[in-house]
Amino acid sequence: MAGLTLSLLATAAPVSVLAKTIVPQAAATSSPAQGTVAMPIWRDTARTPAERADALVKAMSLEEKLSLVHGLFPPNTKNPPADMIPSAGYVPGVPRLGIPILRESDASLGVANQVEQRKGDVATALPSALSTAAGFDPDLAYAGGAMIGAEARAKTFNVLLAGGMNLTRDAWNGRNFEYYGEDPLLSGKMAAASVRGVQSNNIVATVKHFALNSQETGRMVLDARIDPVALRESDLLAFEIAIADGKPASVMCAYNRINGDYACENKFLLTDVLRGEWNYTGFVMSDWGAVHSTEKAANAGLDQESGQELDSSIFFGKPLADAVAAGRVPAERLDEMVRRILTGVIASGLYDHPTPVSAQPIDYDAHAQVAQKVAEAGIVLLRNEGDILPLAREAKSIVVIGGHADVGVLSGGGSSQVRSVGGVPIEIPLTSGAAASFARVTYHNSSPLQAIKELAPGAQVRFVDGSDPAAAAQAAKEADIAIVFATQWQTEAQDAPSLSLPDGQDALINAVAAANKRTVVVLETGGPVLMPWIQRVPAVVEAWYPGQRGGQAIARVLFGEVDASGRLPISFPVAAAQLPRSKPVLAATGPADNGAGANAAMGDAAKLPTYPVTYQEGADVGYRWYAASKQKPLFPFGYGLSYGRPAFANAGFSGGAAARASVDVRNDGKRPATVVPQLYATVPGTATPRLVGWSRRVLKPGETASLTIDADPRLLARWTAQGWQMPPGDYKLTLATDAEHVIAEKLVHLDGGHWPSGRQSGSIVTATITKSN
Ligand code: BGC
Repeated sequence: MAGLTLSLLATAAPVSVLAKTIVPQAAATSSPAQGTVAMPIWRDTARTPAERADALVKAMSLEEKLSLVHGLFPPNTKNPPADMIPSAGYVPGVPRLGIPILRESDASLGVANQVEQRKGDVATALPSALSTAAGFDPDLAYAGGAMIGAEARAKTFNVLLAGGMNLTRDAWNGRNFEYYGEDPLLSGKMAAASVRGVQSNNIVATVKHFALNSQETGRMVLDARIDPVALRESDLLAFEIAIADGKPASVMCAYNRINGDYACENKFLLTDVLRGEWNYTGFVMSDWGAVHSTEKAANAGLDQESGQELDSSIFFGKPLADAVAAGRVPAERLDEMVRRILTGVIASGLYDHPTPVSAQPIDYDAHAQVAQKVAEAGIVLLRNEGDILPLAREAKSIVVIGGHADVGVLSGGGSSQVRSVGGVPIEIPLTSGAAASFARVTYHNSSPLQAIKELAPGAQVRFVDGSDPAAAAQAAKEADIAIVFATQWQTEAQDAPSLSLPDGQDALINAVAAANKRTVVVLETGGPVLMPWIQRVPAVVEAWYPGQRGGQAIARVLFGEVDASGRLPISFPVAAAQLPRSKPVLAATGPADNGAGANAAMGDAAKLPTYPVTYQEGADVGYRWYAASKQKPLFPFGYGLSYGRPAFANAGFSGGAAARASVDVRNDGKRPATVVPQLYATVPGTATPRLVGWSRRVLKPGETASLTIDADPRLLARWTAQGWQMPPGDYKLTLATDAEHVIAEKLVHLDGGHWPSGRQSGSIVTATITKSN
């Protein structure tokens, strides 16, 4: 990539200058060979990042240290530094030591540019992270992360606030689209892959929002209450996996409280678990406006206050200097905060490969291909009665209805908003609510209508906007095929008011389906929606928010140019009543004074009461909740159809030191088949299955394959007073095509094992399991 090439050329200050001017003490240099200038330890790439960071800390003044632990929020910064670019954050560097300016940008789905704060600056928009998760393909998540990282670097950003990975506990959560679904293993693996992709560009990636920021409405004032064991076996497990396997340089703590303490001043989370058990060496940055104290936050383990203008005080500015002077925050703790920030900066490669000083060219065409591939892999075929899909290219007349499918595809809103290459055909500002200042209803310029026309050149293809169900039904009656595009806009800072499609779209679908038996519904939604019309519609496709090549991706799946290959990373309920909570604890439009808390903005929280939300489902999130409560969802986790005809045979299971499943599969169809067999395990003493591994393979017609799936032992363990324990005993292993449909299952004996002191390594399978007798 252009940006990467340049970064290698861009060198920091020459080593000899640094050595002569600022390294007085012998301890901070490696021993020089005879006749050569000593190299400062922090430049010595043979040392560990922590050793190098430590040497830098020793060379820094108090003022320099304090300057690194709080960052600016550019849109609100008075007298901004000349080199500040409008974005989410800016932390000045220490040039004499080669410590770079940290330029922070949101980047979950691409380099963000909310409300076009940088006029005319576009970037490649991936589909929603939920769509990426639906691909069940960590390689694609890596490719997406690598693409975002390359664009960020070329735009001179070097700290990416990417890696959103809260588990979906509530189907209406406004940010489900930014996350990887309801399962800890899938979320952890996908986030890890994306982080590795971002950091392959020698920049910092983040995982966020640590932890339990599970609903948006009232996120500043909610106290997430959960049993600590259940927390470790669910949301924390997802973060543990992402951190161990992805090695993000930074972790962002969340807005909400967890069991009483704010996430950003929660010693249990930030010190006991993150440092003590996971041995995490990078830094914890706060979410923007999530800091409420100086001593408590610093002593609990927060290393950097972000977007300081959004907090009620700049807690890590003068108040921290005063607290250190008075000994209320030990000076060693300040050193540790700085050491962790610098460890992340060095470990990510940023210190040795500084970002370019000015913007570099970007190969947007190549990046668009990444966005399209990810979108195609994530589209889930939910229903296909009578094999109505794929559509024949010879179709005579098609009517496309609704969803602004004539001009583009929907994007989710909030800080992840990318201003995509190709422009914005629709952009509607909000007039009220917590998201109004930074979110607009935005479409990417990728018209499904246009893409359909290109794939069916001989067909008459018409568009009706869907605002009049009777007119849409009439148009459907006159066409061979009707394709209804239904949308649900979701945004950061507020939750969906209901799980039903908004704006009368259910009635529209009913009217069209009654008029034409060959009706296809394409959903562009942030997460699950209710489908009261499902029995009347033969084909349904979930396209999520499909990103800047979404129109092409949808059309190619509809016409079978690529297989329908996505799998649901999230269960779809029949009705909201099936869920652990059937509505948000706080409703933005709710009665009484709920509105105050629901719409609380950054910095307001201290003035408002706290609202508890109890996650009584504990670790039984998503499909495990359905299993525990003996309910059937509309579509289960892991579900998705293919255009091929896969047949599974010869399932086998083995136990002992490690659990493994194997199975043969043959594609009996005439089209490629994508198979995603999943391995679930029910641990002795528990009642619900856990996803412990999966495989993904595309088979040509007639092709056979033998697949094996190894269980990740982190999913087989339970948290006890002695740490993680994999009890010796009989585990039920279930090989399945989704959380409901079993291929084969068997009770298998496992020897068990334990992790007495943390298990931060990704290689725990062989390295740290000790057999119990
Ligand atoms: C969001 C974060 C984001 C930050 C900076 C916050 O409101 O919760 O995800 O990174 O803003 O834009």
